[in-house]
Amino acid sequence: MSDVVTMEKIVSLCKRRGFIFPSSEIYGGVGSTYDYGHYGVLLKTNVKSEWWRAMLQDRDDVVALDSAIIQNPKVWEASGHLAGFTDPLVDCRFCKKRFRADHLDQLPCGQKPSKHPGETSDCDLTDARDFNLMFETTVGPVKDEGATVYLRPETAQGIFINFKNVLQFSRRKPPFGIAQIGKSFRNEITPGNFVFRTREFEQMEMEFFVPPDDAPRWFAHWLAERERWYVELGIRPDHLRLRAHEQDELSHYSSATSDVEYLFPIGWSELEGIADRGDFDLSRHAEHAKEKLEYVDTATRERYVPHVIEPAAGADRATLAFLVDAYDEEQVEGETRTLLRLHPKLAPVKVAVMPLVKKDGQPELARELYADLRRRMQAEYDEGGSIGKRYRRQDEIGTPWGVTVDHQTLEDRTVTLRDRDTLEQVRIAIDELGDELERRLRADWRSPKLAVA
Ligand code: GAP
Repeated sequence: MSDVVTMEKIVSLCKRRGFIFPSSEIYGGVGSTYDYGHYGVLLKTNVKSEWWRAMLQDRDDVVALDSAIIQNPKVWEASGHLAGFTDPLVDCRFCKKRFRADHLDQLPCGQKPSKHPGETSDCDLTDARDFNLMFETTVGPVKDEGATVYLRPETAQGIFINFKNVLQFSRRKPPFGIAQIGKSFRNEITPGNFVFRTREFEQMEMEFFVPPDDAPRWFAHWLAERERWYVELGIRPDHLRLRAHEQDELSHYSSATSDVEYLFPIGWSELEGIADRGDFDLSRHAEHAKEKLEYVDTATRERYVPHVIEPAAGADRATLAFLVDAYDEEQVEGETRTLLRLHPKLAPVKVAVMPLVKKDGQPELARELYADLRRRMQAEYDEGGSIGKRYRRQDEIGTPWGVTVDHQTLEDRTVTLRDRDTLEQVRIAIDELGDELERRLRADWRSPKLAVA
């Protein structure tokens, strides 16, 4: 069976079910900016929690940080972003549109979308010029007198400028890491493909400081770890790959980078970058801030500037990949069933509790059960519409389990427990339900889409 997913279907389901929708819609929107609704917030929160878990709970060599979005502008001078964080841009004098000069062969022409910019006789492209992607704003009440500052284009620099603080307060020594999740901003010339590339997005970045000679070993370690993270959360391994950057692709700070790529409906694209940043950042900040940013081993008196291995992921892009990988359609009794086969740990709602009918004491008992379950996991109570319609709705938001209270429940205190993926229904005692759901939530899970691929 071929994969039925397209970006259009994802966008439509996200809007229909309130995951993600265009921002400022009542004012006509603002290009490529999105708001997350209830289920979107729950899903993205679960993605971020799983990242924190992998960084903080499952290991003991990484600490957390939450640095400011607006930093001293000297940070961006030192990091090289003021001078070098640019994309080449061309304007078309005919259609007045702007394009990334290095993406012309992937972009639609402003007049004829079946062609690329520069391919029609009307296209009149300027020479390419560099455009800095950082958003500028002013600190202080009077615009002209205030200081120009920038919205951070990556969370990483907030980590480097706090290296000394963390070293002091957390009593760490290399190898150790500092992890951060937060918003970053880039004035992308051609955002697009839903939340794949937007101007405002969340990053999940970790800077791992190591003795210089150990950098290659840790680079390999983090490549394997980060690939494993996606697979354990249900991404099909045949839709995931590692791709090493060619020498001419490397960022100004990197001596080696590999991307974790996912096979999106738009083709293989970067999900996360893992870079060996060497001592570039700490050395630059040491030079610009005139501070010693190094590690001194108290026992041996050895001093060195640690090298940095950086796994840098996008929370929105990862959320999109999980949605794409989970989306499925199947024929059930002559009807198309649309569902999200999300890993239960990521599913926005774990269990829906539903009375079969809205009478005979069923809603009261179902509400009691719901109140009990929601103390243990994200649960939802639903009594509106036919049972079939309620199941369809839960399938579309990816709820792995449905619990139905019916006439038998009132007699023997058992309910039916329905599995989203197999559609199997089993009868289970109410008293055992919570433990059974928690057991299932902890169990290993693999995408049922693998079996049919
Ligand atoms: N500190 C290194 C760094 O920022 P990057 O490859 O530019 O590296 C890391 O960004 C990750 O952030 C990307 O792999 C992607 O998941 C996410 N990301 C970057 N730009 C984005 C954008 N405009 N929209 C959504 N996500 C983005």
